[in-house]
Amino acid sequence: MTTKRTKKSTPAQKPAAEVAPAATGDPKPRPALGPNLRSSDSRAVHPDKYSAPAGPAAEDEVADLLWGLTRLLHPDFVLETGTAWGHTALRIGQALRLNGHGRLYTLEITRQRFVQAQARLAKVPVTQALEDWRTWKPPEDAQFALCFFDATRTARDEEFKRFAPWMTDNAIVVFHDCGEQHPAKPLVDSLEAEGLIKSLFIPTPRGVCVAQRIV
Ligand SMILES: C[S@@+](CC[C@H](N)C(=O)[O-])C[C@H]1O[C@@H](n2cnc3c(N)ncnc32)[C@H](O)[C@@H]1O
Repeated sequence: MTTKRTKKSTPAQKPAAEVAPAATGDPKPRPALGPNLRSSDSRAVHPDKYSAPAGPAAEDEVADLLWGLTRLLHPDFVLETGTAWGHTALRIGQALRLNGHGRLYTLEITRQRFVQAQARLAKVPVTQALEDWRTWKPPEDAQFALCFFDATRTARDEEFKRFAPWMTDNAIVVFHDCGEQHPAKPLVDSLEAEGLIKSLFIPTPRGVCVAQRIV
């Protein structure tokens, strides 16, 4: 039996790294359930409907949330701990590029990941630092209006406290891995108990908290 080859009439899909913002309605090329979403918060409504790149990256939907917050806030300075391969950094960077101003500072401790993210982040206003978040010092004039903490889920409270002096008074802070299977949520709760933030838990497979800094 011979198989007839048909020429595709639709244009080739862009690679995942260059997928347009969700607002355009473009389809996502990734399969529904990434391999890193096997452990899921039971409160997520449809855990099987999410997608994520392989490896320790956030859900695409969380990357979309960060894209939306970046558009909404028009920040001049954004901070991310944990660049990994630049999946979420790219989405934030795409939103900043669309905003026409602002810069993301993203920190990664692993040299190989830092280098691999460079190509992905070459065309967006993102400064990568091959640094430990515990010791990296932001630029002197930095005033982060949006922060995404995604490096050390056992120290989410410390990530916040380390950078609070460089945040705007009402900064929006997103804490990843706040699902029941992770240790981060009680740490975020402790920040709320101290009166440092007001938080809202969103049940995604890995769990995310969106908070506002209180001064
Ligand atoms: C969950 S991944 C980040 C995923 C990324 N935000 C994304 O969704 O595309 C966490 C990253 O933080 C990095 N990391 C761990 N400890 C760190 C530290 N002390 N300082 C900076 N980066 C760190 C890890 O090497 C890892 O690549």
